[in-house]
Amino acid sequence: MHPLVSRRAEALRGAVTAPGDKSISHRALMFGGLAIGETAIHGLLEGEDVLNTAKAMQAYGASLRRGEDGVWHVRGVGVGGLAEPEDMLDLGNSGTGARLLMGLAAGHPITSFFTGDASLRRRPMARVMKPLAEMGARFVSREGGRLPLAVTGASNPLPIEYTLPVASAQVKSAILLAGLTAPGETIVIEPEPTRDHSERMLRHFGATLRVADREDGSRAVTLTGQPELVAATVRVPGDPSSAAFPAVAALLVPGSEVRIANVGANPLRFGLFETLLEMGADIALENRREEAGEPVVDLLIRAGALKGVVVPPRRAPSMIDEYPILAMAAACADGPTVMEGLAELRVKESDRLGAVARGLAACGVEIEEGPDRLVVHGKGRPPAGGAMIAANLDHRIAMAFAVLGMVSEQPVSIDDGEPIATSFPGFVPMMNGLGADIADQPPQPPQASGAPA
Ligand code: S3P
Repeated sequence: MHPLVSRRAEALRGAVTAPGDKSISHRALMFGGLAIGETAIHGLLEGEDVLNTAKAMQAYGASLRRGEDGVWHVRGVGVGGLAEPEDMLDLGNSGTGARLLMGLAAGHPITSFFTGDASLRRRPMARVMKPLAEMGARFVSREGGRLPLAVTGASNPLPIEYTLPVASAQVKSAILLAGLTAPGETIVIEPEPTRDHSERMLRHFGATLRVADREDGSRAVTLTGQPELVAATVRVPGDPSSAAFPAVAALLVPGSEVRIANVGANPLRFGLFETLLEMGADIALENRREEAGEPVVDLLIRAGALKGVVVPPRRAPSMIDEYPILAMAAACADGPTVMEGLAELRVKESDRLGAVARGLAACGVEIEEGPDRLVVHGKGRPPAGGAMIAANLDHRIAMAFAVLGMVSEQPVSIDDGEPIATSFPGFVPMMNGLGADIADQPPQPPQASGAPA
């Protein structure tokens, strides 16, 4: 446990670069590990989640080397060429690592064992097991489809057509990864479009993939199986989900002006910034460009008043990881912010809806919590703060409340800042470099989640 305390900050000033995108980093290692030749990955996120995926790819036979310049070099085994890992794969805190690798494993005639930390072992895996079993993989898992589990992949995987019952890029990607070794066309239909990094990167590595937007708003992704993936150079953009924390901090702390360079601006990841602009945020998007098939921008953010808004549920997939930090902005905005269609937040690294609601209430913010909705009643001024927040092994809960502490009247404490290293290893020094005051706090007696400090 590594308790933190975040105190009210002076104006934040400076220029920072967002750490590499977590979703794209996992995929670059996996597709590089399947491709023929040597893939070079620039800007890979070196957070714990991604490093666990790197270890897993080595266990599957890919060879990985990190150059002194920070560029990662991956020699792949070829589609269908994964070796059987000799030991259990531990994906730590990462749902993306576990679910995508299960897809990869399901399309190879080998047996893999997956586990993870206490948070990952609680998360639902049946959502990937079901379609992968239709493709021919066999699973043995704990009750309710929880880790640890074993998967024996299909020797002749079947291509399937599968309509996603939940909006999940992880489930979509797991099916596409298994579809790589299946003959013919594997089709995933998403009722609501989710992040398309797998689709973009599969094309970048030479696969044939069609994406069709249908009249009812759904999207069909069709992959032609058994492609030869060819090594490529990947430049990982900064993670908009990580940039969200310094960005919202700069909006909330009076007098702030912060530049964040190299932020991925994929429209299927950009819902938070759209919402903040609707709230009246002063955010300039500059130097729009494209890198390795992904749009990238620089952000210039200045503090200012925000007003509450209604966030359309259809936007949820494009900002699913950003609701905790949006809720912090909403807590300082003027008027209610209504967030709906949030059922998936209950099964992330923690029950994020519950954690945000409890934590905000403990910080003196009026909230309404429903099974899949949250209303935050902002009063146009910083909340009281002064609470101890239980991070529950969830990096985004820890970072969101650290940002709230920068503006609230009393400091906000977080019982454990360690999970931050899964996605944003340099978060505390970066924020303090901009002018925040986040410090280690001596351990305190255990308290209930969100109880007053
Ligand atoms: C991710 C997809 C999302 C997101 C996660 C990363 C990905 O999860 O919450 O942080 O890289 O595909 P779901 O697919 O469960 O929505």
